[in-house]
Amino acid sequence: MIIAIDGPAASGKGTIARQIAAVYGLQHLDTGLLYRAVAKAVLDAGYPPDDVEHAIAAAITLDPAKFQDIALKSQAITEAASVVAAIPQVREALMNYQREFATRPPGAVLDGRDIGTVIAPGADVKLFVVASPEVRAKRRVLELRARGEAADEQEVLADLLRRDERDSRRTAAPLMQAPDAHLLDTTHLGIDAAFRAAVDIIEAVRAGRKRR
Ligand code: CDP
Repeated sequence: MIIAIDGPAASGKGTIARQIAAVYGLQHLDTGLLYRAVAKAVLDAGYPPDDVEHAIAAAITLDPAKFQDIALKSQAITEAASVVAAIPQVREALMNYQREFATRPPGAVLDGRDIGTVIAPGADVKLFVVASPEVRAKRRVLELRARGEAADEQEVLADLLRRDERDSRRTAAPLMQAPDAHLLDTTHLGIDAAFRAAVDIIEAVRAGRKRR
């Protein structure tokens, strides 16, 4: 089984993806880490994130062993990730890794922006997870502070909105809901309720019922 979970920044897709993978016994890939790792490699080498040549080279030589690096979650890398992610050749270089991950037994949950539209258009279940910008900013602030990073709510909100806009407007695999994806709005849902709502959708799809 392949489950595709897409959505804007800090919508809760990562948390849902991890929990869903655990309960269904599937592998989980946070595909944002790939773009973050590319961005970090480019910045570490002293180039700006829109340096197309170096970004492509970093994508081609990507080392998944580095996905655990906590530095990938910093705000500077987050911003740079959405810049390298707009480069079509970077996305192309990262495609095989994601598709192979998705099709390897026993199956996988992938979360990102283009999983249901580009990486796994034939996924068994597709979720598009959204939440209001204000709620997403609040959640991201808590995450950042929990990791010891200073975070101002208004700044975080502005960052999220700028990134959403860049991710939605780019021509290469923009952030959008696949026509057959099920919308899950977590604005008023805590972690447990969001997880249960996701399971309900997955079970309904598996039972052959159609739900939106
Ligand atoms: O956790 P958050 O949603 O803030 O970020 P993320 O999922 O790690 O993604 C970071 C950036 O990578 C996004 O802003 C996108 O530009 C890019 N990305 C993408 O283009 N395609 C994906 N499948 C995953 C992430």
